Parts: sequence; structure tokens; C-alpha cells
Amino acid sequence: MQNAEVLIRIVHIFAAVMVGGAAFYQLIAVRPALLELDEASRQKAWHGIARRWFGMVITLLVVLLATGLYNFIAIRVPALRGKPSAGLYHALFGVKFLAVLAAFHAATVLSLPGARGDRWRARGGFWLPFLGLMITIAIVLGGLLTRFETVFSN
Ligand code: HEM
Repeated sequence: MQNAEVLIRIVHIFAAVMVGGAAFYQLIAVRPALLELDEASRQKAWHGIARRWFGMVITLLVVLLATGLYNFIAIRVPALRGKPSAGLYHALFGVKFLAVLAAFHAATVLSLPGARGDRWRARGGFWLPFLGLMITIAIVLGGLLTRFETVFSN
């Protein structure tokens, strides 16, 4: 494996850990804690968190998209060309890509700064578990894609 390939994989995993960690931290700790506050304090805390986190969310999504697409287009597609297993790889990638788009939507709207994000955060009881599920699907399929030849060798 080339050095650039290793570096891109490390960056992809690091960004995935940041996005996934933040989602589950919000779901398990931040949202339940904020729900115990009165309305005014909760809004103040949400706005403070969103203001600080939104730029990071956008950065992480761009990094995930860039490293993921590079990995797919520059490395995996040429390596799988002509192989019988290519169809299955592409199907799994397609499902992962849809899950990732859904996760990107949820992560972005939940961290929209100010009043724009309030209506999404008010429905965080749906959107945070949804985000956690989409990220879990992305991680499981990412792991399978990376070990594709080993897992589907028979
Ligand atoms: C929420 C966002 C994402 C998460 C949590 C995530 C997670 C992961 C994980 C954990 C791996 C396994 C890494 C390894 O063991 O080397 C992986 C691999 C991969 N990811 Fe992502 N990923 C995300 C977004 C994306 C995006 C946006 C793309 C492409 C557009 C993408 C394309 C890929 C590809 C192609 C692989 C496997 C590469 C191979 O076959 O070796 N990922 N991902």
C-alpha cells in the first residue's frame, strides 16, 4: 500500500471517529442533560454549542467526502475493474453512500447555528438516533469495503 493511501485512510478514519463520537456524545449525554434545563438556559447552551461546532461539522464532511471519493475512484474502482466481485462492491458502496448522505443531512441541520437549527434540535429525539444509525451503517459498510476481498473471498 502506498504512503498516500495510508495517510488518506488515516484521515478518513479520524474524521469518521470525530463525527461518530460527537453524534453519540450528543445522543447519550448532551441532549438529556440540556433537556433538564429551563427553556432559556437550554436555548443559550444549544446556540453556544452549535456556533462552535457547525464549522467543524462542515470541515469533517468535506474531509470525509474528499478522502472517501479518492479512495473509491482512484484506488478501488481501478483495482476491481473486470473482477466478478466488482458488482457487489459497488452495491455496498452505493448503500454506504446513501447512509452517509442521510448522516450528513442530520449532522448539518442539528448543528445549524441560531434559530435556523432550533426546529431540528427540537426534534432531536428523532434526528440524533437517526444520525447514530446512519453513522453505524457507514462504519459497518466501510469496514466491509476495506476488507472486501477477505470477507467475500468464497
Ligand atoms: C459519516 C461518514 C463516514 C463514516 C463514519 C465512514 C466510516 C468509514 C470507515 C470506518 C471505514 C473503514 C476504514 C478502514 O478500515 O480503512 C471507511 C471506509 C471507506 N469509506 Fe467511509 N465513512 C464515511 C464517509 C464516507 C464517504 C462520504 C465516502 C465516499 C464518498 C466514503 C467512502 C469510503 C470507502 C470507499 C471506504 C473503503 C475503502 C476501501 O475499499 O478500502 N466514506 N469509511
